[in-house]
Amino acid sequence: MKLIEVKDYQEMSKKAAEYIIDKVCHHPTITLGLATGGTPIGTYKILIEDYQKNGTSYQGVTVFNLDEYVGLTGENKNSYRYFMNEQLFNHIDIKKENTNIPRGDATDFQKECNRYEELLTKHGGINLQILGIGNNGHIGFNEPGTSFNSTTNIVNLAPSTIRANARFFNQPEEVPTKAITMGISTIMKSEEILLLVSGESKKEALSKLFNEEINENFPASVLKKHPCVTIIADKAAIADL
Ligand code: GLP
Repeated sequence: MKLIEVKDYQEMSKKAAEYIIDKVCHHPTITLGLATGGTPIGTYKILIEDYQKNGTSYQGVTVFNLDEYVGLTGENKNSYRYFMNEQLFNHIDIKKENTNIPRGDATDFQKECNRYEELLTKHGGINLQILGIGNNGHIGFNEPGTSFNSTTNIVNLAPSTIRANARFFNQPEEVPTKAITMGISTIMKSEEILLLVSGESKKEALSKLFNEEINENFPASVLKKHPCVTIIADKAAIADL
């Protein structure tokens, strides 16, 4: 794992955006794996600014998002489909049909998991996966204890994840308790992974990532087995390393 240390959230976002833009320019038909949550918002903002200023095109780019809440339609403001449309897709020239996110309003969730995994495999997998990390080490919504062999599946969210994500909802009770997420093995098949980590609240998770053995109780530890991981982390997040 290669660690790039930066000053703060803004610098992390800038570095990450530059990293992605460079890849898109060199490989205009790249497949990106994208994440939600607070961490990548600044990065997406800079991608939009760059698109407006420099015209970097996403017409040939395909996106597969990591996860979605079970029970939320794409029109629901708290769904990750809505988030991605608002934070990125609506502001660049990506083709809507090339933006893939698991369906939170599926009627048969096992079928939806299989469909998503098969679609991604048929497409040829992800070239560059952007990841954030949960306070408990989750990646995507793969909570502690998830098998490293897991593919796209339905998960029960850990109480700490529900608490952490309640900040995006009007009421904590509105946070769904289940999600559909790419599995750990799905994520690990990506050619390259870019992990973004910012803020004091992530310093324990980052320190565990570097110092703990690879084990399923700390999902992000699996990244140590991947041949091509870059971490961009800010001062506050690396404080305990
Ligand atoms: C969320 C998402 C993850 C994200 C992580 C960290 O629940 N499912 O994809 O990386 O938890 O979120 P944040 O960036 O808001 O800290």
